[in-house]
Parts: sequence; C-alpha cells; structure tokens
Amino acid sequence: MAQRITDPHGRLPRQDGGRDSERRGEGLPALPSRESRHRPLFEPLQVGPVRLRNRIIKTAAESCFTDASGEVTPELLNFYEAIAAGGVGLLIVESPTIDHPLSMANGHGFRIDDDRYLPGLSRLAAVIQQHGCPAFIQLHHAGPWHLKEFFGLDPLSVSATPEPELPHFAPAREITVEEIEGLVSKFTDAALRAQRAGFDGVEINAAASHLLGVFLSRAWNGRNDHYGGESLENRSRIVTEIIRGIKARCGADFPITLIVNGLEAGRPGSMTLNESRGIAALLAEAGADAIQVRFHCHGNLAALWPEQLLYPEPIDELPAQADWSRGGAGAYLPIAEAIKRAVDIPVIGVGRLDPTIGAQALLQGQIDLVGMTRRLIADPELPNKLLAAQDEDIAPCTACLGCLDDAAMFRPIRCRINGHLGADRKQVFLPAPRSEHVVVVGSGPSGMEAARMAALKGHRVTLVSRDRKLGGLMRIAAMVKGQEVEELEAIITYYRRQLAALGVTIRLGRRMTPQRVAELEPDQLILATGGVPTAPDLPGLNDCHKVVRSGELMEAARRALGFVGPETLRSLSHWWMPIGKRVVILGGAIAGCELAEFLVRRGRDVKLLHSGDLTTLGDGLTELMKRSLLPWLARRGVEVLVGARCDAISDEGLSVTTAEGESRLLAADSFVTALPLEPDTSLLDHYRGAAPVVKAVGDCVEPGLILDAVHSAAGVFAERGE
Ligand SMILES: Cc1cc2nc3c(=O)[nH]c(=O)nc-3n(C[C@H](O)[C@H](O)[C@H](O)COP(=O)(O)O)c2cc1C
Ligand code: SF4
Repeated sequence: MAQRITDPHGRLPRQDGGRDSERRGEGLPALPSRESRHRPLFEPLQVGPVRLRNRIIKTAAESCFTDASGEVTPELLNFYEAIAAGGVGLLIVESPTIDHPLSMANGHGFRIDDDRYLPGLSRLAAVIQQHGCPAFIQLHHAGPWHLKEFFGLDPLSVSATPEPELPHFAPAREITVEEIEGLVSKFTDAALRAQRAGFDGVEINAAASHLLGVFLSRAWNGRNDHYGGESLENRSRIVTEIIRGIKARCGADFPITLIVNGLEAGRPGSMTLNESRGIAALLAEAGADAIQVRFHCHGNLAALWPEQLLYPEPIDELPAQADWSRGGAGAYLPIAEAIKRAVDIPVIGVGRLDPTIGAQALLQGQIDLVGMTRRLIADPELPNKLLAAQDEDIAPCTACLGCLDDAAMFRPIRCRINGHLGADRKQVFLPAPRSEHVVVVGSGPSGMEAARMAALKGHRVTLVSRDRKLGGLMRIAAMVKGQEVEELEAIITYYRRQLAALGVTIRLGRRMTPQRVAELEPDQLILATGGVPTAPDLPGLNDCHKVVRSGELMEAARRALGFVGPETLRSLSHWWMPIGKRVVILGGAIAGCELAEFLVRRGRDVKLLHSGDLTTLGDGLTELMKRSLLPWLARRGVEVLVGARCDAISDEGLSVTTAEGESRLLAADSFVTALPLEPDTSLLDHYRGAAPVVKAVGDCVEPGLILDAVHSAAGVFAERGE
C-alpha cells in the first residue's frame, strides 16, 4: 500500500545522493500500479553525465528571496530545499547576476560575478543535492530587458533598438564586438564559479528578448558582422561560443542546458520553426546537453504562461502551430516536438504542463523532460505525492499569477495555496507542544487554511460555518470568473479533501453563537468570518429602486450556491439575473472589473465608474490581467469613467462629475455597487474571552485576495510555536 503524506515531514524515504552527480537519482521507489498513467514521468534520464531520477524539472523562475547584499539568503535556501525535497528530478535555480549591473533585469537578485559569492552558492547547491536532486543554475543577460531606472545605464542589445519591446523599457544600444567577447568570458566565468560551488550544470537562457535571445532572432538582429544577418550560424555564434567556452573551461562533461524561443510572433522577422530547428541543431552540435523550448510573443510578456494568452479572448498572434485544445495547458508541446525532431539531445517542454499532460507527451515522444514552475511553487511535494499515489492531495496551482505579480514588484513571491514559500518548513510544521481544541469560524480560504494548519500542528479542529458548502466567497468568485483560466473550484476541492483527511470536524449551515462557542469549549477560537460589503455614501442611495448592493448580490448568490455549484449558477445567469440591460457599476477595482466582464458576456451595456486614478483602476487584478482585461472592456464598449465623483443618485440616473469637471447624468436600469470589502472585527470584540486564545484572520482583519487570506491564516500558528 502507498505511504500517505500528511505533512511535509511524512515524506517518502528517499535515497541519499551525496554530492556525486553520477549517483543521484538511483534507488527509485516503485510506482503504485494505480498511478501507471504517470509512470513515464518516473523513468530516469541522463542529461550529459547527470542522471535524473525522474523527468520532472523545476524550471528557473525568479523568486525574489534575495536582499541587497547579492548573497544567497536563508529564505532562498529554504525555498529551493523544499522543492528538492519534494522529489523533483532536476532543479534549475533562477539566474544570479553574471555581470553587475547590466546583466540584471532590475537592481535585485543574488550574484555569481565574483568569487566572494562562492560560499553562499555552495550552500545553495548543497541544500538541493542533499535530497538526491541535481542542481543546475541559470545564467542569463537581461539585455534589452534591463530597466534603466535602476542604474541609469542604457540597456544592451544585439542592434540599437530605438523602439523598445515594451513601453517601460528604455531604448537599447548596440553591443560592440569587444563587449561580445567580454560577455562570452563573463558567461564562462560564471559557469566555472557555478561548478566550483558544486552545481551539477548550468542553463543558458537564450530565450525571450534577453540579450542572447535577440541575437538569435531576425526580429532584432540587424547586424552585418559575423554575429548577425540571415545566416543561422552567425546569429547563433555568441551562444555557441559561450557553450564551447564553458565546455573548454569546465570540462566536456559539465552539462549545459539551453532555453530558446522555438517560435516567435509579434514582430516582422519573428523566429520561425524552421529557423529555431536549425539553431537548435547548431547549439546541440556546439555541445548543448538539453534544450528547453518556449514560445515568445514580442511585446506580450504573457506568452510564458500560455493560458494567459486566451484571456479574456485569444490574442491575435496565437500561433497555429501550438495546441490550444486544453485551455493553454501544454500548448507549446508541438513546438517542442518539432525541435525534438531536429536534435538528438533531450528536449524540455514547458508551459502549464501538469503530470498527466506531461506523461502523455513523454509517451508520445513529444518531449523528454517535463518543465514546471508554478505547480511546484504551489506544491513542492508534487513528485513525491505522485509516487505515493496521492495525486489528489497535490495543492493545485490555479494559474492566478499572484506569484509573478510579487516578482514583478521585486517582492519575495507568495502563492495563493502555499503560504510557506521561503519559510523553514521544519519550524512551520513543528508539532504544537500541546494538542488543543481549535475552533475555526468561517469556511472561506482563510478559515480552511487555518483549520488545515491547526490540524497539521496536531490540534483537534472544528470548523463551523453558516454556509452550507465550503469555500466562502471563493464560490461566488468561481461563478463570476468561470473555470477557464483560474480553476478556483480546485482550491475548494483540495481543502475539502485535506480537511477530511486530517480529521477536521466540519459543521456547515450553522451560525456561531456564544452558546455554541461555550458548548465547544475551544482552547483557541479563530475567526475567519470575512469582511463586510460597503456601499458608497451617496445622496439618494437608499431611495433609488435601481440600486443593487454588492452585499445583496452576494447574499443571493450565497443562498443559490447552497444548492447548486458555481458552474451551474454561472450557466443559469445567462438566462436570468436581477440586473437590468443598462448597468452602471460603482467601483473599478478587481470586483468591479470582473463584474463588468461577467455582465458584458451576458449582453449587458456596462459603464464602469472608478473614483480613483488610472493607477488604481483594476486594483487586485494581476498586471497581466489588467493589460488584457481593460482593453477588452474598452473594445466591448464599456465606458470607464476614471476619477469620476458620484454626486447623487435617483431613479432618473446617477449624477457624476467627471475627472474633466463635466457634470453628467448616467441613466441605467441597474446601479450595482462593487466597492472593496471593509474589515469587520466586531466578532473579535464579541468573542474576546470566550476562549483562552481568540484571533481573527483573513478578510475580517484586512480584506484582500485569496492569496492574502491564505497567507494570513498560514501564519496564525507561527506566533507562539503553537
Ligand atoms: C514568478 C515567475 C518568475 C519567473 N522567472 C523566470 C526567470 O527568471 N527565468 C526564466 O527563464 N523563466 C522564468 N519564469 C518562467 C518559468 O520558468 C516557466 O517557463 C513558466 O512559469 C511556465 O511554466 P509553468 O506553467 O509550469 O509555470 C518565471 C515564472 C514565474 C511564475
Ligand atoms: S501564486 Fe497562483 S499562479 Fe503562482 S504558483 Fe500559486 S497558484 Fe500558481
């Protein structure tokens, strides 16, 4: 029978690989037969001389667990150790700085451009390898993606680019031949340092529009020396020189993986599949040991995350060569497959891959290795859970890209389902000194996470909620958003299963009262009762018959969702909703914008009123969603009044003063309030003293996103080592 993983310490026993790459990955545990569909994932594979215990690769991704010192931090070690311990076959660490400051995208990150960083880098390699996982490290030069605002220096590119790829990039200057030669040395120096630090290999990022990527692409490479032009040999020269340089200095058996754009779009001269196949063959001939293939859309950063290219409707540049049949999951596999036919080294696929799609792709020979980032951030234990036939216990990545938003703001990444990134998991999951009775009130994300954490710490847990189903506002959000991109219901399914497995007593459809609290005799009472909807303080609001308050809508949805699922209610809403044909939404943050999309899709004429400025329009949406949803709303005829002040409301209409000082009367059939929730700690005061410890978490303390709610609850037992 498969061993059950109930917490991060209940992991499968795994082999001790030591520091010897040849030995790592041996002693693979048998895969339960029920999970044979994932069997291809657990076939070992050789990358150069390094043997991987399975085919799942953590691809490089900036985590921002760094500080201004340029040193490897304890949080960075914890972050990567958790992933290595989770059983991944190969871990590729994110890029350190190889040439300060121009190689960096921004002013943040750890460094590999000097020997003084060797001790920290060695610790990093060792914490990964001690779990039997080989450690590679990505080397890259940001090139045109270097942000000038940090050091005041012009970014470098293959050719001068007076018109940068994105508005916030500065024009780049052309790199000289001398600088190219220097750069090749910087890459080889960094690789040698990585090797001295104990890394098993390096990855060279020649993708996106980073410096090496723009050499490869005709879209940017306008040189007419031997690093440019139509010839693939010339355009690949800088990369092949780096590969050969590293092999010369680190030894032919020091493995190098490459990342390339298998296909590009968005600019004249974008890379074709024929070109990338030719380039891949040249890189393999130069000594590359494996190659990772992506799609890049110039001017659209979302291309790394294929599902994002479909939201809210598919972009014009969607490549026909990709496979869009699974909502973006594994979309780029056919591109990787085309490259695989051109080379005889392992090919790594990436882009919303999951274990099932990955295993199928391996079986069909489309790729050799399954690259993942977000699913391993969400649950570093994913490989071990697959091995233990516990795939239903894998914490789902629901593609919210909250992690990316943190990285884009240079903040340590957080995940909406994993509240412990960068934390010392041994401490976090240390059993409580004494098992107590913890009563959690509320079944939204913070309530469910608090209950899960309490149970993992060894407490006896009771979760009470007035709702008839678990999920709280997430069920309403799932109804509004749909499942196409974010898969919110997967979070609820996950928690339902975890709470049941952990023995949490769940009492739904019950309001908490002082008498009930007294009956339950909790040692700890955790209130996760949510924030309160608000309406604007607007003359006439209470008398206008056309006002639909968000609180009323939520209550109606909550009641309906007690009987039907979010998807069913979403379908029914195409037929009927308590909202008229012409709608004005009051509130332009995430709730207002997503409601606008929902209503437009149901044939409503929508106006969106946002009292703040442009920078706060869509607050709470990820940057990528803002970039796609706001223009979509405009294209679908939604008038957005930014900086508008509401003066009064009546059945005749809403009087507003626009940002330009113009008075307007907006007539509508429904005026829907969609302001952010406000905190509500009244219950905290009410129940103070009802248990030795009373705490509040989530929206009732500080309304925010699911990610904020989960984090607030994940930390609730950290304070007293409880
Ligand atoms: C927060 C975040 C940061 C990333 N940073 C990098 C990076 O520094 N270098 C890189 O090559 N890819 C980076 N990526 C891309 C990932 O390696 C990967 O290609 C992408 O997330 C798609 O895989 P997934 O769907 O499994 O997450 C990043 C991804 C995320 C989510
Ligand atoms: S923050 Fe969102 S996208 Fe990122 S790993 Fe977590 S669930 Fe996935």
